[in-house]
Amino acid sequence: MKTVMSVGIDTPTKRSSKPRAAGGGGGSDARSNLLEPIPAGFRRLSWTAVTAVFLLVILGGVVRVSDSGLGCGPAGSGTHGWPLCNGRLVPGLDVNHVLEYSHRIVAGISSLLIIALVLWAWRRLTAETAIKRLTAAALGLVVFEAVLGGATVEYDLHELLVAVHLGTAMIILALLLAAARAASRGTTAGLWPSGIKRLAVATSVSVWATIVAGGYMSGTQAYGRAAADQTFGARLACGAEFPGCLGGWFPFGRSEMTDVHLAHRALMYVTAILVLTLAALVLRHARARGDRLGRWALVATGVLGLQILLGALNVVLDKSGWLIIAHLATGTILWIVAVSLTISVTGRPRAQGPPARPI
Ligand code: HEM
Repeated sequence: MKTVMSVGIDTPTKRSSKPRAAGGGGGSDARSNLLEPIPAGFRRLSWTAVTAVFLLVILGGVVRVSDSGLGCGPAGSGTHGWPLCNGRLVPGLDVNHVLEYSHRIVAGISSLLIIALVLWAWRRLTAETAIKRLTAAALGLVVFEAVLGGATVEYDLHELLVAVHLGTAMIILALLLAAARAASRGTTAGLWPSGIKRLAVATSVSVWATIVAGGYMSGTQAYGRAAADQTFGARLACGAEFPGCLGGWFPFGRSEMTDVHLAHRALMYVTAILVLTLAALVLRHARARGDRLGRWALVATGVLGLQILLGALNVVLDKSGWLIIAHLATGTILWIVAVSLTISVTGRPRAQGPPARPI
């Protein structure tokens, strides 16, 4: 028999090993808040799915920046380009084919992991309503994402589809992260002020919006498109200037591409203010409560700083594939940290459960 450990990043204090109810309540509410034992295998599977989707997002960036987005067939080629690769099940050895196809393979592995999580949760974790819903929602979005991926290829990597594709991937990642945190019993003692809870949600929404706007901007660069002109696009629409733009600060209205670029910057400033405010408040409250969450507030601040630096270098140093991938990876990590902080401060208090049954 193995015992369930509370391994969340923010577990504030060592809790009693006896099952107990939240907020000192009783009756059916207390019963619904008792923890069902989660098999260690389920926890491992859920974290593996989080890792696989993270890698998938980065690989998606590599596919785009290496001009491989249409590596399996041109726009309008129907099933010839997706789900097949140049009309074949197994692609040739051209680097673009291989990159585009490896993205599909990792997508397939991630989908299988998520299907396994859903089956496991719905068949064995009968009382874990949250985990069941989170994994099912992730699976629903994976189906949507697969169709969207096909449409993105079919419609010549249109920037709107690229942005929605990235935004959906981030939501899938967040759902899986929430499921993994719930399976690891990583929720807080639940004593956070409602102002901090609202701020955390707003911060996550803002990070997501900044990421989607960044995806849209990347989409305008037309990597991989037929007859793509890399000098066109929003990336250099402010010249090589940051934080200024074309001799001003926010010269909206000069051109469509400048507006796309400035929208990403404007959202970035909102995100930066929200992340820094949230980090300061979480740090203050966490210190007062002796809660480890304060460390994650510092991590959020560091990741934000790195992300802004990478974005600025992206503009100032002009085109460099690895900088774009590093910017995408760090943006995704910022999303993971923001969502994780949000889960921690908004999570319902839960009680330690009985020992896990080996399954
Ligand atoms: C909170 C801060 C930020 C976040 C979360 C963020 C996120 C993102 C994301 C996710 C992308 C899409 C990358 C891809 O799909 O490959 C992107 C693109 C981009 N971002 Fe940011 N970004 C931030 C700050 C900045 C800053 C300060 C700049 C400086 C101007 C910047 C400039 C760019 C540029 C130029 C691109 C397009 C890169 C390309 O050519 O593909 N970003 N951003």
